[in-house]
Amino acid sequence: MSKINPRVRMIQNSVQANLLQRCNHIREELQQGVKKPYKEVIDICWGDAHSGGTKPLTFVRQVIAVCIYPELLQETTIAPDVKERARRLLRECPGGSVGSYAAAKGIPFVQDGVCEFISKRDGGVPSYPEDIFICSGSQNALMFVLKLLVHGKGLAQTGVLTPIPCYPTFVMGLTELGAAMVPYYLCEDDGWCLHVEELRRALATSRSHCNPRILYVINPGNPTGHVQSRESIEEVIRFAAEEELFIFADEVYQDMMYAEGSQFVSYKKVLFEMGPQYSNTVELASFHSVSKGIMGECGLRCGYVELVNLDPSVKQSVTSAFNTERNTAVIGQIALNIMVDPPKPGDPSYPTFSQEVKSIRDNLVHNVRQVQETVEALPGTSFQAGSGGIYAYLRLDLPQKALLQAKEEGTDPDLMYCSRLLEEEGVCLVVGKEHGQQEGTYHIRICIGTTSTRLKEVLRRLKSFHLRFLNEFS
Ligand SMILES: Cc1ncc(COP(=O)(O)O)c(C=O)c1O
Repeated sequence: MSKINPRVRMIQNSVQANLLQRCNHIREELQQGVKKPYKEVIDICWGDAHSGGTKPLTFVRQVIAVCIYPELLQETTIAPDVKERARRLLRECPGGSVGSYAAAKGIPFVQDGVCEFISKRDGGVPSYPEDIFICSGSQNALMFVLKLLVHGKGLAQTGVLTPIPCYPTFVMGLTELGAAMVPYYLCEDDGWCLHVEELRRALATSRSHCNPRILYVINPGNPTGHVQSRESIEEVIRFAAEEELFIFADEVYQDMMYAEGSQFVSYKKVLFEMGPQYSNTVELASFHSVSKGIMGECGLRCGYVELVNLDPSVKQSVTSAFNTERNTAVIGQIALNIMVDPPKPGDPSYPTFSQEVKSIRDNLVHNVRQVQETVEALPGTSFQAGSGGIYAYLRLDLPQKALLQAKEEGTDPDLMYCSRLLEEEGVCLVVGKEHGQQEGTYHIRICIGTTSTRLKEVLRRLKSFHLRFLNEFS
């Protein structure tokens, strides 16, 4: 008899995992000299800017380099503000070394910086270090807060209102922890808006089998790119207040706004502007990460969660629960410190920093346009462009014959599409099924947080494949 927790067994083997396995296999085949219509596989699934060719920000890497190897403080080519930041951070590390243990909740100086950032972002709304928990990435932070809230069986089992389409690892976390996922559908025809009537519908249905306690929102959306308006956020907060739901605001893409004139507004800011009736009562967890902001440092694994309106009687227990398993790597915390306190005008590193940031943003804008132009010229595809994030989520209107073929092969139509795209053109995308989708609709996700040349090549191959596919099944 296996000793493995049965919940672990329940985590579904993702369709994407199989596709990625095949992708790696094709790479090996190419290395062994197997002939294919392409020389290189392009895996453009993950929201991983650096693997997509984006260069790390110089200031981030220089400060980290000096912190790791303080002898570089003697180096004359390193800018004074880099040295100053490194010295400041090293003073916060016991023994002046990044190799020492840091405080479990995060280095206090880094926590303070996070609070200042939040407060500035939210027009002066206060933020307190005791509410900030620094984690090894926001997935880790999501799991931490979920663990605090998920319990019960049957009608008492914690239900989590979860958007469809969704960030899939969150859904896996729900299964692992034994929460009931309560899907609510974002409205594709309305640019992937979150409609409160849909939340009400989902909540009402869920009460027959669980106890909904959490409302998860992703803003800006993954995979949709939709950015909620202030009005929409207000509606959601009012709904959460009425239904006594704990809001999880996954705001990891807050820095990646690309549509002209659009603006990110945080849940916390709106909550506090709604007055004490809400700001003193609605429980909110807001997540951010060094992975998904402009620096794209996914591998450094650092993020934070701010817990707002947590019941004061459990605060100490929550901190103790956190201490049992968290102790985020110091290098990640250095990146977090720079994310929340980047170089400013007048600093020696500012010109390079601002130029690098500008080029990442310009590239994102350019990439969205590239996708739009491709989709416009491609029958059987549509794209509700969002305003933020790093993904383009395309809808596929597949011919009836293709649907029948998929049925015959015992597979999903969008998986069949992506598998063929991979085999024939060497392009690996995310299958819509992975994110969840309305019955009878099919999608693919492309990461646009990549270089424009790489994306151009992906779109060229996608176009050529798609036209062949339509031709075959029309
Ligand atoms: C919406 C969302 N939340 C959280 C994460 C986790 O990011 P990390 O753990 O790298 O901070 C991701 C990663 O793709 C994401 O898309």
